Amino acid sequence: MKYKFNVSQLYLFLNGTQGRTMNQLDLQNFEINQLLESIYFRYGYDFRNYARASLERKVIKRVALSGLSSVTEMNQKVLYEPEFFNLFLKDMSVTVTEMFRDPYVFKKIRQQVCSHLKTYSRINIWHAGCATGEEAYSIAVLLAEEDLLKRSRIYATDYNNHSLEIAKKGSYAIDKIAPYAQNYLEAGGQTCLSDYYQVHQQTISFHSSLQDHITFANHNLMKDQVFAQMHLIMCRNVLIYFNNALQERVVGLFKDSLVHRGFLVLGEKESLEFNAHGKAFEEFGKNERIYRKKSDL
Ligand SMILES: C[S@@+](CC[C@H](N)C(=O)[O-])C[C@H]1O[C@@H](n2cnc3c(N)ncnc32)[C@H](O)[C@@H]1O
Repeated sequence: MKYKFNVSQLYLFLNGTQGRTMNQLDLQNFEINQLLESIYFRYGYDFRNYARASLERKVIKRVALSGLSSVTEMNQKVLYEPEFFNLFLKDMSVTVTEMFRDPYVFKKIRQQVCSHLKTYSRINIWHAGCATGEEAYSIAVLLAEEDLLKRSRIYATDYNNHSLEIAKKGSYAIDKIAPYAQNYLEAGGQTCLSDYYQVHQQTISFHSSLQDHITFANHNLMKDQVFAQMHLIMCRNVLIYFNNALQERVVGLFKDSLVHRGFLVLGEKESLEFNAHGKAFEEFGKNERIYRKKSDL
């Protein structure tokens, strides 16, 4: 298709800045906006509300790694090559996780949240942004030790299908286990983590008695809805990748999903301080970033 304007002129026209010369940063910004629009309209993923600086770094890195000359060239590939889009999706999904990450958080859940969970006959827990599943297996172990697992259903969701496949297998490299076992003990573990898995040659796999209580499913926090009433939601180290608008959408979802007096756990660098839904929650554990729902407002 022939354009009447070149990219730079079009940007200036759309932004009402005729007469000003477009610099390199303006141009890059414009091209990235175009890329995000294309992705949204072609695939329905709305990355326009992701924290901008880290998104830009990932786009520029993908352009370089793929030997492309510009973001506009990347835009073309994203539009016409779904496989290439999947690569970008993988770039955007930071899947770093571990078992009993921040053990003091799990200790607080064990010592102070479980006594409240015990008052329910059925317990629903949602791990939103579960990555490769280590956090979901951690809570399953903790619930087993608190004699709560048999009445619990753990929903562990992510928008990254590749991570979910790993999570469903519940099988991890054996060399990761020593730090996980250490975390487990620091989190107040009552026996030994090895009681919960079988060892194969280079991997371990968690017992099906844990897996049977976990449902792994695709759920996209950008656009999907509430799917069940939850007593505890853990969404750790996910909101940091979102801008304020998307953080508000997501915390609104959690508020609607939680039962009255339900618990929400965020990551170490996340808080409800500037969130419009923050007033619906009270702090339960300041250091642990644990909140409790107090109203539907
Ligand atoms: C850094 S990991 C956090 C894993 C785990 N919660 C933890 O704290 O160890 C962030 C996860 O959020 C997921 N994520 C990012 N955006 C998402 C979205 N829009 N919907 C669902 N999951 C998302 C990523 O795919 C990734 O698996």
